Amino acid sequence: RSHKLWGGRFKSSTDHQLEQLNASIHVDRRMYAEDIVASQAYAKTLNSIQLLTNDETSKICTGLDQVKQEWDEGSFNIVNDEDIHSANERRLKEIIGEPATKLHMGRSRNDQVATDMKLWLRGALKKLDEKLRNLIEVMVNRARDEIDYLMPGYTHLQRAQPVRWSHWLLSHAWNFKSDCEKIKDLLKRVNVMPLGSGALAGNPFDIDRNLLAHNLGFSDLTQNSMQAVGDRDYIAEFLFWASLTGIHLTRLSEDLIIYSSKEFNFVEIHDSFSTGSSLMPQKRNPDSLELIRGVGGGLFGQCCSFMMVLKSLPSTYNKDLQGDKEAMFSSFDKMISILDVASGTLESLKVNASNCHEALSFDMLATDLAYYLVRKSVPFREAHHIAGKVVSAAEARGVEMYDLTLEELKTISKHFDADVAKVWNYVNSVEQYEAIGGTAKNSVLQQIQTLDYWLEAG
Ligand code: ARG
Repeated sequence: RSHKLWGGRFKSSTDHQLEQLNASIHVDRRMYAEDIVASQAYAKTLNSIQLLTNDETSKICTGLDQVKQEWDEGSFNIVNDEDIHSANERRLKEIIGEPATKLHMGRSRNDQVATDMKLWLRGALKKLDEKLRNLIEVMVNRARDEIDYLMPGYTHLQRAQPVRWSHWLLSHAWNFKSDCEKIKDLLKRVNVMPLGSGALAGNPFDIDRNLLAHNLGFSDLTQNSMQAVGDRDYIAEFLFWASLTGIHLTRLSEDLIIYSSKEFNFVEIHDSFSTGSSLMPQKRNPDSLELIRGVGGGLFGQCCSFMMVLKSLPSTYNKDLQGDKEAMFSSFDKMISILDVASGTLESLKVNASNCHEALSFDMLATDLAYYLVRKSVPFREAHHIAGKVVSAAEARGVEMYDLTLEELKTISKHFDADVAKVWNYVNSVEQYEAIGGTAKNSVLQQIQTLDYWLEAG
């Protein structure tokens, strides 16, 4: 038999199938602690306006402490409870008796559930922020240690210009930094307290919502009770955040999957983050990265499906919203797991610096040849054209541009001099990019320093 909070007006019991569909306890039990903290704060608020006596309040609060302890220890017994709110209240009544039935005055599960979720999400975002920062730290440390490694940079996955390995690495770290900043921004909306909105019309007992918000660590409170009970923007935003962060992780993974193929052989994924084939004994597959790539895509599916739940929903609370927690918990779990695997994979990765270097080729310096001419006051469009002629002359002869003699170069443009030899040097090439954000050593060190300060500042 279930302990319904709303049985009064019903003549027959709930259909079994509906009861199953309606029950959310096996999902929302995860926020038992938040539900209890919010109830204790609410009891104190009722006490401050004499709706609960000191004795009742202290019974409720210590009773709830015991309920929490049962959950903590795993001894809480779920008996056909509909959701975490009903379960906690049912158990509280078993422990303390009558005063428990006064706790819910002026409150509804509608403002209660929204409050619990925001409290839970606040903690979850803190953990995600730590995981992301850890990943960034791994990247920054590698970037510092491996600053001298050069590799081909790609656009369209075609060989483009030489870059520092660290520059590539940090290109992903900056995305994750921006994901951290989005968490901060999202927290502004999460930290707005809905409690005191009742079912939809508000709270009739003149409670001090500001004090209640303060006691629960919220920095602000909702200003419209109807909006407050139906608002799940913070969930939608969180799911979008997870999708975008997930997408950043898939792009990092994809690069590394390509770089770890034998054809590239820039990196080796550590054994502990690879798996083998049941058929081909020689295989070592980058499963860690492929899983991140797959899970990262699934996160957007979750965001998308929750947006569809929100679409056209009538004002205030509707039961459609109950699925919000499943999406929130599942996206959180997936994010934690792929962030951990990403950090581990990156930390244990072996970079084949010499392969990266050997993959460079002189054709990737064609832009540098044009810049050489620009420095001799040749307008860029003309310089680009001349460098193109040099590429084509070398191609026609089946040699590198580097092999063309100064005389040959001079027949293409009179601006070439003996100092053109300096162009054929990959370090010289990357060292041109000294402006902020470029791939020169100083610019990359500057990035490392900026990220270091940012990580330290927390
Ligand atoms: N279990 C419900 C949920 O998670 C709590 C709110 C129920 N409110 C209601 N009016 N039925 O959405």
